[in-house]
Amino acid sequence: MMTRHSQGRRITWPADQLIVSKTDLKGHITYANRTFMAVSDYAEPQLLSRPHNLIRHPDMPRGVFKLLWQTLQQGKEFFGFVKNSTANGDYYWVYANITPSYDLDGRKDGYFSVRRYAPEAAVGTISALYRQLKIQEQGLERQEATEASYRGLCDYLEQRQQSYHDWVTRLYRDTMEVAHVG
Ligand SMILES: Cc1cc2nc3c(=O)[nH]c(=O)nc-3n(C[C@H](O)[C@H](O)[C@H](O)COP(=O)(O)O)c2cc1C
Repeated sequence: MMTRHSQGRRITWPADQLIVSKTDLKGHITYANRTFMAVSDYAEPQLLSRPHNLIRHPDMPRGVFKLLWQTLQQGKEFFGFVKNSTANGDYYWVYANITPSYDLDGRKDGYFSVRRYAPEAAVGTISALYRQLKIQEQGLERQEATEASYRGLCDYLEQRQQSYHDWVTRLYRDTMEVAHVG
């Protein structure tokens, strides 16, 4: 079952359980499933109509969220590793897939996020990268910090000559395979 440690520790949960939420166009939560509530330690009334940055962890670089919103606004789906905070100050790592959702008339009415348990090996790679990106944000105002870590992420990908999408989906796939073999 789910393991919960003392303050500031990583929360784990069964890898076959998905964390699901839905938001409106502005990122306010309109739906949360039971796994979301169990892992984040929030009850439904504390989540509904709240902005999704409620569970934002301070270790997350701003540039990653810039890329997330930019991708969604282009009508594309976003994949990414996200460190989230729980209500009591613990944290958990997810591999998120966020997609636009459409009403019956085909108008975009919000976004869905389905999050999977992030494999250990991926978390190692990602947390080292995010630490570097946070260093690039240091001492900067919000907007400049966003640009700095976004640029840092682009540089990282350029060095590897990969698109963000190819790099992130490959990292998930490769580390999942290791988790299954090991
Ligand atoms: C469907 C959806 C799911 C999101 N899930 C998360 C999440 O799990 N954690 C998170 O920090 N931000 C999430 N976001 C992004 C937040 O809306 C927000 O951009 C981010 O937390 C940065 O907040 P800030 O700009 O106030 O620092 C999600 C956005 C959408 C549209």
